[in-house]
Amino acid sequence: MTTILVTGGTGTLGRLVTQRLRGEGHEVRVLSRHSEPYAVDLRRGGPTLDRAVDGVDALVHCASTPRGGDEQAARNLVEAAQRAAVPHLVYISIVGVDRVPFGYYEAKHAVEKIVEGSGLGWTVLRTTQFHDLVLQVLEAFAKLPVMPLPAGVRDQPIEVAEVADRLAELALGSPAGRVADMGGPEVRTFADLARTYLKATGKRRPVLSVPLAGKAYRAFREGGHLAPGQAVGKGTFEEYLARR
Ligand SMILES: NC(=O)c1ccc[n+]([C@@H]2O[C@H](COP(=O)([O-])OP(=O)(O)OC[C@H]3O[C@@H](n4cnc5c(N)ncnc54)[C@H](OP(=O)(O)O)[C@@H]3O)[C@@H](O)[C@H]2O)c1
Repeated sequence: MTTILVTGGTGTLGRLVTQRLRGEGHEVRVLSRHSEPYAVDLRRGGPTLDRAVDGVDALVHCASTPRGGDEQAARNLVEAAQRAAVPHLVYISIVGVDRVPFGYYEAKHAVEKIVEGSGLGWTVLRTTQFHDLVLQVLEAFAKLPVMPLPAGVRDQPIEVAEVADRLAELALGSPAGRVADMGGPEVRTFADLARTYLKATGKRRPVLSVPLAGKAYRAFREGGHLAPGQAVGKGTFEEYLARR
């Protein structure tokens, strides 16, 4: 049996990684700001963080927030892991963090560098957006009388359960460095995904493509966040919506 710490183990991805690993008989510690006995704000660190990493065979870092602080959180985590001589740190990142100049992506790219330079054994997996995130975005837009969507932007959403399977597998293996990206099965325009969502939910809304300004938008429009050559995901957005 292996002992693994999953940071963000209560989140969309982390919860499934935790389930997988426990299902295979491993001991899993879950760390997040609200999950006792390892309730830690990684941006602050502290003695509970040291207790959480003590004696683990691997650490899967899923905790993150687009609201800022991921870099400090990663530094605190890495320092605790170094003190405890953790053999393997696995980090989940996003396809295109080095291509799309978008604040959250830049922070994730910086975290990749912290992980890679940590001196610990490490593995980094980048994936495209989860279906869950696309749905969240579309639900927010559907609150308006007209759905405004970024013109010309495509997405390649992936089933989070498949990402969890891969992450659990990586956590149980040896440090592998940057592994092959995982992309969802289809690259589709946001307008197309929105129509699929409207059909599945029985809602009626006009879809409006809105051109935006800025470097990040240009990079998204150019597909910097896509991995068409790595369309290894199986579950489609339709299948995800049908299951809900
Ligand atoms: N969503 C996507 O489409 C996507 C695609 C590719 C990669 N990823 C990456 O996958 C990871 C997980 O994403 P997700 O969508 O599953 O996230 P999520 O559902 O928002 O979960 C985030 C988790 O992190 C914890 N957390 C947040 N801030 C924390 C802090 N300062 N200290 C300790 N714990 C903290 C949260 O719990 P508490 O609130 O209790 O702290 C929660 O368990 C992230 O690194 C994300 O960048 C996501």
